[in-house]
Amino acid sequence: MANGKPSRRSHKLCCAVTAIFFVIIVIVIVTLFFTIFKPKDPKISLYPEGIKNIDFSALTPNVTLSLGTVVAIENPNYGSFKYKNTTSYVTYHGEVVGEAPIEQRYVPARHKLNITTSVELKAGKLLINPHLLSDFAGGSLNLTSTAVLPGKVIVLNIFKFHATVYNSCNISVFISPQKVESMCKTKLKL
Ligand SMILES: *[C@@H]1O[C@H](CO)[C@@H](O)[C@H](O)[C@H]1NC(C)=O
Ligand SMILES: *[C@@H]1O[C@H](CO)[C@@H](O)[C@H](O)[C@H]1NC(C)=O
Ligand SMILES: *[C@@H]1O[C@H](CO)[C@@H](O)[C@H](O)[C@H]1NC(C)=O
Ligand SMILES: *[C@@H]1O[C@H](CO)[C@@H](O)[C@H](O)[C@H]1NC(C)=O
Ligand SMILES: *[C@@H]1O[C@H](CO)[C@@H](O)[C@H](O)[C@H]1NC(C)=O
Repeated sequence: MANGKPSRRSHKLCCAVTAIFFVIIVIVIVTLFFTIFKPKDPKISLYPEGIKNIDFSALTPNVTLSLGTVVAIENPNYGSFKYKNTTSYVTYHGEVVGEAPIEQRYVPARHKLNITTSVELKAGKLLINPHLLSDFAGGSLNLTSTAVLPGKVIVLNIFKFHATVYNSCNISVFISPQKVESMCKTKLKL
């Protein structure tokens, strides 16, 4: 029992050193994460191939068109990103005319992936819009899509940060010849 105290003291010292060492490592990694590994905005592009094939002359108010769309996601970060199931909304002059489910995925660090979805476009909503005729006559319809992807960024499989990706795209559908163009903006918020 005579050397019980010194041993306990050295045990405490050892724990303190380990703890300090651990804290330093964490600080270094977190600093690296916010400097060299500073989170960058992911890139999301839309390829709304299905929209190209809308037969405008066959639109009736009671149909819902399923328009195949490829969503290309590029994660430029050193951390991977995991997001939950969500829904993207398509609006026309401020009115929601369609929606598309975005299935949950894991996007590895510095990786690109394509997901496919289908935009359920409600023709009725489009047809009652007072802007449709003039836009049609003008030769193009402009739609916007917005999606919020709640999820987390995972760095080195240890550190997890809540993160949300905000995406919005301008989609122009040209009537003749029929083609579609899209431009997207994406922001990552920790
Ligand atoms: C839409 O309505 C028209 C006329 O009311 C009908 O002939 C047609 O079958 C309906 N289409 C669908 C997909 O319900
Ligand atoms: C996400 O969506 C897929 C397909 O729609 C479904 O199978 C899965 O259960 C959903 N996951 C959650 C957590 O809701
Ligand atoms: C995703 O799809 C786009 C358009 O179809 C294509 O250009 C791109 O190469 C695809 N990317 C991957 C990673 O498959
Ligand atoms: C839609 O957007 C395109 C390209 O941004 C533009 O040229 C066109 O005039 C717009 N059309 C309408 C109806 O706003
Ligand atoms: C979409 O169009 C609006 C209005 O023309 C513009 O303010 C916005 O920056 C555009 N968004 C993208 C992603 O290009």
